[in-house]
Amino acid sequence: MSEETIIKVLIVDDIADTCDQIEKLLFFEKDIKVVGKASNGRQAIEMALKLQPNVILMDINMPEMDGIAATEALSAKGLPIGVIIMSVQGETDYLRRAMFAGAMEFLVKPVPSDDLFNAIRSVYARVIVKPTRGPAVSPSENQPQKSDAKGHLLAVFSPKGGVGTSSVAANLAIALRQLTNKKVVLVDGNLVLGDIGVILDLKSADRTIAELAENITEMDRELLNEVLANHSSQIKVLVAPPNPQIGETVTADHFRRILEFLCTEFDYVIVDTPCSFQDRALAALDLADRIVLLMALEMTCIKNIKLFLEVAELLEYRREKIFLVLNKADSRPGIKVADIEANIQHKVALQIGNAPLEMTNAINQGVPMVIDKRDHRTSKDIFSLAKQLATMSGETVGDETAAKSQATAKTEKKSGGLFGMFQGR
Ligand SMILES: Nc1ncnc2c1ncn2[C@@H]1O[C@H](COP(=O)(O)OP(=O)(O)OP(=O)(O)O)[C@@H](O)[C@H]1O
Ligand SMILES: [Mg+2]
Repeated sequence: MSEETIIKVLIVDDIADTCDQIEKLLFFEKDIKVVGKASNGRQAIEMALKLQPNVILMDINMPEMDGIAATEALSAKGLPIGVIIMSVQGETDYLRRAMFAGAMEFLVKPVPSDDLFNAIRSVYARVIVKPTRGPAVSPSENQPQKSDAKGHLLAVFSPKGGVGTSSVAANLAIALRQLTNKKVVLVDGNLVLGDIGVILDLKSADRTIAELAENITEMDRELLNEVLANHSSQIKVLVAPPNPQIGETVTADHFRRILEFLCTEFDYVIVDTPCSFQDRALAALDLADRIVLLMALEMTCIKNIKLFLEVAELLEYRREKIFLVLNKADSRPGIKVADIEANIQHKVALQIGNAPLEMTNAINQGVPMVIDKRDHRTSKDIFSLAKQLATMSGETVGDETAAKSQATAKTEKKSGGLFGMFQGR
């Protein structure tokens, strides 16, 4: 194996035994080489400058200088080094701070060896794709430059309330950012009673979409940057107005113009689209490159999905624009997915597993599952969704099943006429 393909790793932990154990664990991995061991943050910085590792495994609690401060200092130097923070269970606050400081990955100790190897390789891949991240002044400045092409607008939508639109939109935005390292903005399209501020613990964000609507003719990059909230995952968030009265001042035309502007500034614009067929929701659906259509295994939801597909046809949306996702999927006997697909004449492109407890906890704690429980099956499903959508948008993120889902979208047939049921509602 050539020198260039060896991943150089620096281990940082104040407990010498831990450093030794990790070193032993990595010893048999042919593409990974431990180049040094440091016992605190300050030593880690010195050794990083001298040894130029590709990846640093960083403990948090250490004497002299802790792992977060060291990560921040390294990040500010803009070196091509990926930091993996390793911490014990339950230190959620550390996770946020670590990500804010510029860490690329977070592992909970004790780390299963496969997870450790995978994390090192994945962080290394991201470091060599993007050699320098530049000084980490804030999450916003940590974002890479937007490419010249127009950004991709992904509208997460369900014609039935409570199916998980806001939760999936928030998790998807973060997963996309983590997988692609591109500029991502999440927009709370629920202009009246939005939930994204709570789901991402951005309740104190006081500048909202209403301010952009109010200044629509003067809207520019500077105003946008002032109004957007920074999330520790390095996505930007456009939160909803604080009350319905202010929310009502944002018209569909405002909303459309704001989304169009965001597409010139970001690579991915994820919209938590309101559950309605009113003009503001349609503004997002019309502009969307892809609609992530969420369905649950309930008859009322399936009925509405069928109706939505009818409306989509009337609106002349391309069939492949609609990416049907089954949320809260589980293996309980009951309605079969194949039967639904036959009934609605549309393939389910992906399933997101049911995790009621974890999803509710995530909302209550303001930390999405893809951050705090990234190894959970449901988080993996959301990463898989992000990967497929990114691949469909032309991004290279790996090898998996995007081609397959594109193929299924193309082979779908048209649905029958139920639009009258909508009009009667
Ligand atoms: N994959 C999942 N597994 C289990 N529960 C989930 C899943 N996704 C979302 N939920 C739960 O579903 C409930 C509704 O979620 P959420 O608020 O995201 O839905 P919504 O469609 O945006 O709702 P609304 O129509 O009120 O805006 C929450 O309790 C959430 O925890
Ligand atoms: Mg919602």
